[in-house]
Amino acid sequence: MNDPKVIVALDYPDSEQALDFSRKVKPEQCRLKVGKELFTSAGPVLVETLIGQGFDVFLDLKFHDIPNTVRQACAAAARLGVWMLNVHTLGGKAMMQAAREGVECVAQRPFLIGVTVLTSLSNEDLGQLGIEKPLPQLVEQLTRSAIDSGLDGVVCSAQEARALRASIGESALLVTPGIRPEWAQSDDQSRIMTPQQALADGASYLVIGRPITRHENPKAALETINESIVSVAT
Ligand code: C5P
Repeated sequence: MNDPKVIVALDYPDSEQALDFSRKVKPEQCRLKVGKELFTSAGPVLVETLIGQGFDVFLDLKFHDIPNTVRQACAAAARLGVWMLNVHTLGGKAMMQAAREGVECVAQRPFLIGVTVLTSLSNEDLGQLGIEKPLPQLVEQLTRSAIDSGLDGVVCSAQEARALRASIGESALLVTPGIRPEWAQSDDQSRIMTPQQALADGASYLVIGRPITRHENPKAALETINESIVSVAT
């Protein structure tokens, strides 16, 4: 079965640029991530178009609201036909359970994953929010809560993958951004890891944006990455 490990982050401002990219690559080579900027500007029509082109779409809208609202939002995303979507684990167990109920509205439900602690938040930021627990323990606690609530896994930094994989076991999905091949610039990512290392540490899927989307030849960049992970991608 074809199971591409790379999820390309379509961090574009509009549909035209996103579709210009999607025409350059094939669904056998990658999945595509549509986030808040692109979805807000291009809407469900773009998602349907990408799915129509044969791509699996990860709808990265990080739902976080009362359980009933999140249930309905997740159901709407499932009906749109997305492959994966996410919610904030800090929305709590009832919200995550409602999200799971929501995605069950279609025969082949999408993967549902959780965001634990945004990597933009430092220990100091968490302290200001009244959260005193050290970050690694907090991430692990929220991951367990996500799995117990019926989620399929979490988004985590590649640097967290090894420890999380060891503590939660083999079956949960770990989706990791902050990935940079040796030949790429780090951009604004500070804690980076190569695609090979992230997969070897237990990542299930790799979210990669600029090393591919800003490359002068995106297809070639994607192919180079895919070749580099053949031996570690199961
Ligand atoms: O271009 P780059 O590879 O840095 O893009 C990474 C993608 O992953 C972006 O869409 C970014 O918003 C997302 N992301 C991240 N770090 C997180 C969560 C999501 O970089 N902790």
